[in-house]
Amino acid sequence: MSDARVPILNLNAFGGEAKETLPDDLRRMIDRRRRSFGATSVLFFHEPLIVDHASGQYITTTDGRRYLDLYNNVPSVGHGHPRVAEAVCGQLRQVNAHSRYLYDIVETYAERLLALFPAPLANVIFTCTGSEANDLALRLARLHTGKRGIVVTRAAYHGNTASVTEVSPSSYKAGEPPDYVAVVEAPDPAVHGAEVGPGFARVVSEAIRRLAANGAGFAAFIADSIFSSDGVFDGPAGFLEPVMAEVHAAGGLFIADEVQSGFGRTGEAFWGFGRHGITPDVVTLGKPMGNGYPIGGVVTRPELLALLNSQYGYFNTFGGTPAAAAAGLAVLDVLADEGLQDNARRVGASMKQRVREVAERSNIITDVRGVGLYLGVEIDRGAPRLQGAGERIVNGLRARGVLIGLAGLNANVLKIRPPLCLKEVDVETFIVTLTGVLAALDL
Ligand SMILES: Cc1ncc(COP(=O)(O)O)c(C=O)c1O
Repeated sequence: MSDARVPILNLNAFGGEAKETLPDDLRRMIDRRRRSFGATSVLFFHEPLIVDHASGQYITTTDGRRYLDLYNNVPSVGHGHPRVAEAVCGQLRQVNAHSRYLYDIVETYAERLLALFPAPLANVIFTCTGSEANDLALRLARLHTGKRGIVVTRAAYHGNTASVTEVSPSSYKAGEPPDYVAVVEAPDPAVHGAEVGPGFARVVSEAIRRLAANGAGFAAFIADSIFSSDGVFDGPAGFLEPVMAEVHAAGGLFIADEVQSGFGRTGEAFWGFGRHGITPDVVTLGKPMGNGYPIGGVVTRPELLALLNSQYGYFNTFGGTPAAAAAGLAVLDVLADEGLQDNARRVGASMKQRVREVAERSNIITDVRGVGLYLGVEIDRGAPRLQGAGERIVNGLRARGVLIGLAGLNANVLKIRPPLCLKEVDVETFIVTLTGVLAALDL
């Protein structure tokens, strides 16, 4: 791995720097957090936020300041959406128990969700998180193939269980994934050439050969369909098709992790894999699925679940409860009724164009990538004088009331991923603020 790599949990993390200059109430809150959460406590920004409430695409802190939220994809249909909140509260009052009883709302949600997938993907298992979904996906692939090896991209993040951490190279602060995990460079046109598909398929195929040679064998290729933590690699649409052919030729499964790219975010398709014209073997879901209510899932072919059931079966106490189904159904309804996938397409295209105009006037922005409301703005790759520039921009924007994040192996990609209800007026605010920050930082 490159020496300049930044582990995912260190991206835009508060490191205690200049703590003595922070306001007293903030220092006290940070100390309280650290006393109870201990060493693994993670906070964003040089000056962390104390949040009071949020609505739509805005977050308000306890001092009454309102921030434009261009970071949070969990409240995908908008913070505090009243239809989701009311659906969940109403269901909690009516009944909320495990899924070993029948409930009309759970059956309806499962059917509505599955109707959004290609026909072969006809079954769903509900989980509570994306990590659980990916953990299960790895198990399905290993059961199906009898092999252990997984191919994954270099700065991928797929979650936090023991087996999923092993396929999340970006989580490693020390050491590397085990030898049954083969790591490949992300599908970056600057690495694989403008014909990303065949180039990327070649490196995946070499990785599969490495796994065969070291005895692990090949179980699955797993990818976030927009390669978000790798630095947002969205195109050209279709580039995953040759990869899928390699994966299948080698007898493995293709796992599409839709935790970031699913539920309309890319604007062009409801699922990220849909932009690539492929039908994965296993699809994993999470974050935006319940607009903040914890719900995830695995969607796959019936025979893969039959195999799992012959060995272990699966039950998840909080997975697929009526309240989770209420949240999930409300999200699907709001996405449709408010035209949010189309909004992501339109407002995302406009924002990308406006950021490209900023990039033309800037000598540090080397690429503007992304699709729909998922943009990655690359700051000059690896130039030593610019190390840390991404973090300075993120903190500069936060100081002026706009929240974004960071991605990429070297923390040099601005990650812009707002709730899908973003408006043109918010794009204007962002562009004006970004221009001001770039000028003030003299970058
Ligand atoms: C692509 C991807 N997959 C899986 C996960 C894990 O989801 P969760 O945090 O709900 O376990 C994440 C979380 O950031 C993610 O970005």
